[in-house]
Amino acid sequence: AAAPASAPAFPIPTNCFAETVTEVKHYTDRLFKFRITRPASFRFRSGEFVMIGLPNAERPVFRAYSIASPSWDEEVEFFSIKVPNGPLTEHLQKIKVGDTVLMRKKPTGTLVNDALIPGKRLYMFSTGTGIAPFASLIRDPETYEKFDQVILTHTCREVAELKYGEELVEACKTDPLIGEFAAEKLIHYTSVTREPFPRTGRITDLMTSGKLFEDLGVPKINPEEDRGMICGSMDMLNDTKAVLESFGLEEGSNARPSTFVVERAFVD
Ligand code: A2P
Repeated sequence: AAAPASAPAFPIPTNCFAETVTEVKHYTDRLFKFRITRPASFRFRSGEFVMIGLPNAERPVFRAYSIASPSWDEEVEFFSIKVPNGPLTEHLQKIKVGDTVLMRKKPTGTLVNDALIPGKRLYMFSTGTGIAPFASLIRDPETYEKFDQVILTHTCREVAELKYGEELVEACKTDPLIGEFAAEKLIHYTSVTREPFPRTGRITDLMTSGKLFEDLGVPKINPEEDRGMICGSMDMLNDTKAVLESFGLEEGSNARPSTFVVERAFVD
């Protein structure tokens, strides 16, 4: 039989799922989210990432994307930057509902609950699209089973870039599955660095000045009670990591769980 007119022009690589876009939402000229159908056999741990591409070439360009939806969700969500002339995002930012997106079959990553030893408070430090893995983790009941308090920090250049996180946290608090946990345990701590906003400054500065802990009414981060996950640019990772180490925390991994873990917010 003849292939349907909408069939991708190129064969689907064997290590990939070809999924359908179900929703696209643009937040700013730099940021958008999209959701795709989820293959029944696709399993991942909340916080992991996967390679994403488009069926627009014989050898498609793939980039790592943190999965922003929780592991129980029927769809898979991503939060993306639009890089001018970025080999993938210049095309990806134009996708519409009904289009096909390629997703490699094997997810991986270190921002997972299993890589942290138990503690009282979990800090999730994010800048820009670095909020994506935490969008997954704050919708996972396991996160709330493991910690008394979950503090999601999100710092962006501009106020409009906080919108995705604000909607997400709002939705969490009324969600039938995790709403009760989120209302009790989840704190969303936002700041902006290049526009006026009620709270300004980098998260690293808010920690070293002690303002973060004053605002939250909690003791300074310490290795007995606190755990951390970090996701942002390479510079942000390195600087935030240094601050956590100065508080006595130590980097862990899947193979060797400890008191904090890091992952780069991938860009084109
Ligand atoms: P700033 O505006 O002072 O550079 P980006 O889009 O460059 O990844 O930045 C996202 C947010 O992360 C911005 O608010 C930015 O602040 C902040 N940021 C950038 N570099 C660092 C760093 N090394 N440590 C902490 N925050 C950072």
